[in-house]
Amino acid sequence: MSITVVSTIADLKAMAAALLAEKAHSRNPGTLGLVPTMGALHQGHAELARTAVAENAVVVASVFVNPLQFGDATDLARYPRTSEADAALLEAAGVDIMFAPSVEEMYPDGEPGIRVTAGKLGELYEGASRPGHFDGALTVVSKLLHLGRPDTGLSAADRAGRPAYRAYFGQKDAQQLALVRRMVADLNFPVDIVAVPTVRDTDGLAMSSRNRFLSARERESALVLSRALRLLEQRAAAHAPLDIASVEALVRSAPGVDLDYLEVVDPQTLAVRAENCQDTPFTGQALALIAAKVGPVRLIDNVPLG
Ligand code: PAF
Repeated sequence: MSITVVSTIADLKAMAAALLAEKAHSRNPGTLGLVPTMGALHQGHAELARTAVAENAVVVASVFVNPLQFGDATDLARYPRTSEADAALLEAAGVDIMFAPSVEEMYPDGEPGIRVTAGKLGELYEGASRPGHFDGALTVVSKLLHLGRPDTGLSAADRAGRPAYRAYFGQKDAQQLALVRRMVADLNFPVDIVAVPTVRDTDGLAMSSRNRFLSARERESALVLSRALRLLEQRAAAHAPLDIASVEALVRSAPGVDLDYLEVVDPQTLAVRAENCQDTPFTGQALALIAAKVGPVRLIDNVPLG
């Protein structure tokens, strides 16, 4: 089936309701998957979309470059807009509806006076260099989660006990994922959050809409991020000391790479793990987070440990 592109909330609601009714006897009846994106889509997004398509009767992908989460007008203006290619990628993945609203449709009264605040966790890591970023991201995610919420008309029994509503986020943006989970839990949003593993190019670089801004030489240097994470992964798997200092030195030795942080954190709370990260054998579970500027591009990546 070909994808339907809608730009208004009214059309989104009407189309989602019509498709849920039409697919009432399909696989996973009465279930809707939402894939929030800002467009400039790549294979990482395609994986989110395919996962949602496999688990739901109807899948909506939103494509909205959210001004609230950009601190700087240049960064917002420079963010790639590739809507035709986005629609083609989503259609190939089997998505039913692409919701591509204007800024006025999403924020009809201008910038919202009331916003979601990300709290302490929103000020760490990415939040430290992008103040207000996570407040803006959570505010738009909360709106999108409300707008995508299906009115399925089917009981849980008719849905064979399946959750009616799921939203899909990439593990690559680990801090965003943790904050969305926290928001959904703290504010009782009726949606299941599904994390989809990071997709990497064959050379190991995590896929990102920002990779297109790397020169060939910068891209080569950027590979040190995934190499560093792989090293930590191997040490953790061998229950060896992580010796983060030596990994930081490796990253700093790559030309043009300006390391911002490399932290080993609790996978749920993202609090820094004080123990077992340097000289003692690694045990338990953790997440290694890395962020660096490579040339003009800020890159992030992460890997589960243990
Ligand atoms: O991860 C993104 O692309 C954005 O932060 C999101 C979740 C679509 C909100 O604008």
